[in-house]
Amino acid sequence: MTMPTEQDRVLIFDTTLRDGEQSPGATMTHEEKLEIAELLDDMGVDIIEAGFPIASEGDFAAVSEIAMRSKEAVICGLARANVKDIDRCWEAVKRAGKPRIHTFIGTSPLHRQIPNLSMDQMADLIHDTVTHARNLCDNVQWSPMDATRTEHDYLCRVVEIAIKAGATTINIPDTVGYTAPRESADLIRMLIERVPGADEVVFATHCHNDLGMATANALAAVEAGARQVESTINGLGERAGNTALEEVVMALKVRNDIMPYQTGVDTSKIMNISRRVAQVSGFPVQFNKAIVGKNAFAHESGIHQDGMLKNPQNFEIMRPEDVGLAASSLPLGKHSGRAALKAKMTALGYDLADNQLADIFVRFKELADRKKEVFDEDLIALMGAASEAHDRLKVKFLRVICGTEAPQSADLTLTIDGVDQQVTATGDGPVDATFNAVKVLFPHTARLNLYQVHAVTGGTDAQATVTVRMEEDGKIVTGQSSDTDTVVASAKAYVNALNNLIVRREKTKPEAI
Ligand code: KIV
Ligand code: ZN
Repeated sequence: MTMPTEQDRVLIFDTTLRDGEQSPGATMTHEEKLEIAELLDDMGVDIIEAGFPIASEGDFAAVSEIAMRSKEAVICGLARANVKDIDRCWEAVKRAGKPRIHTFIGTSPLHRQIPNLSMDQMADLIHDTVTHARNLCDNVQWSPMDATRTEHDYLCRVVEIAIKAGATTINIPDTVGYTAPRESADLIRMLIERVPGADEVVFATHCHNDLGMATANALAAVEAGARQVESTINGLGERAGNTALEEVVMALKVRNDIMPYQTGVDTSKIMNISRRVAQVSGFPVQFNKAIVGKNAFAHESGIHQDGMLKNPQNFEIMRPEDVGLAASSLPLGKHSGRAALKAKMTALGYDLADNQLADIFVRFKELADRKKEVFDEDLIALMGAASEAHDRLKVKFLRVICGTEAPQSADLTLTIDGVDQQVTATGDGPVDATFNAVKVLFPHTARLNLYQVHAVTGGTDAQATVTVRMEEDGKIVTGQSSDTDTVVASAKAYVNALNNLIVRREKTKPEAI
């Protein structure tokens, strides 16, 4: 057996917190970003792109704190091609054990028109900005944005300039998801062959999924010599998303016979982080999504079930345990005890203290009384609800009257700072009536810009997870809750978002002088 060499090692660069968070509606709170960064670091991701420090005070604060708390991973921040961006980025990442500045500019004919620079002017700017970044940090990544639509001669010229100016990683983005596997490979091969100094840097591939080819394009680039793959958890990202981290890592693991490359990712942590990213971004994972979809390891048809019982390899190319799915599919029910619940929660990646277990056990029993079977997804949803215990606003009672005749009405009691307050309000449908009732009891000016319902398990007694996103004076907050009753879940999610807004208002309040 031959041992893997450095040449076989593919670095995994995660940009969930930058490119992923950039997708419309996927904004995460500061605390959520810290938590995702910690999970990425723990799972063995090599480089975490933690944000775009100049974009906002919030982004700067998140990148700085992620840098300070980082353990093994390189912490990277994004910067446009100007000194102000690069300085701000360095300020944010410099406290990391391993900091990196990532600076970029659009080099294709279309993108060159944005700053309105000639080819020569842009080449000079690349030289100056990469040099500036390299004077601050010895780990500099440079990206020619829209590289896959850039003239080859010009791409070779600017890549060479960036390498000479001190870039240590050259990232080749397929910004608009336009390339295809053979072309993706040819482009990397062409750069490695033609650009002087190419053997001294790491080439990275950064693909978008507009044509559904992001993973295939990234793997083709690896086969041609790229040794860093840029990706996001669940493929989150602008438009149709980025290359999905879990797909690349599992493809390299399962098909190591034909793609003999290693990553440092502990694949058993994939499901846990996938669920957390889905929860905090408010972007549910599609049921049939490769690796992390709810149905990725489900076998419904009789022929498949029979084959699975005889030998799982008949229909599974990966073991569920390899991606961190609890191997046992034995559902919990109302007769299950505390020990079974604890074991299940541990298998799902939750390390619960005794008081947390006691709290979740009460909620589990209440749910088990209403549902025949309690599935993994129900328990994960319950964990979200448990964190609502310390909120200032709580839904105490809700009854809606709906039917074919409008308007629908909601009779709601909210506990606000420990005091019960009641109102009846009407609206266009039960959810609208409920939200109107909340607004009467807790007036606010926040605008609702997302309302999303997702059934977490099957059947008419399924739990619904509702996600709402609101905005007030530029502060974006998300609320999420689950219940077997969709309107109750909606009320709780709305109230959860308001509680998060109260916390945000406190944090961003100007300090008293
Ligand atoms: O897609 C893209 O081009 C990017 C760059 C900033 C690297 O995300
Ligand atoms: Zn991108």
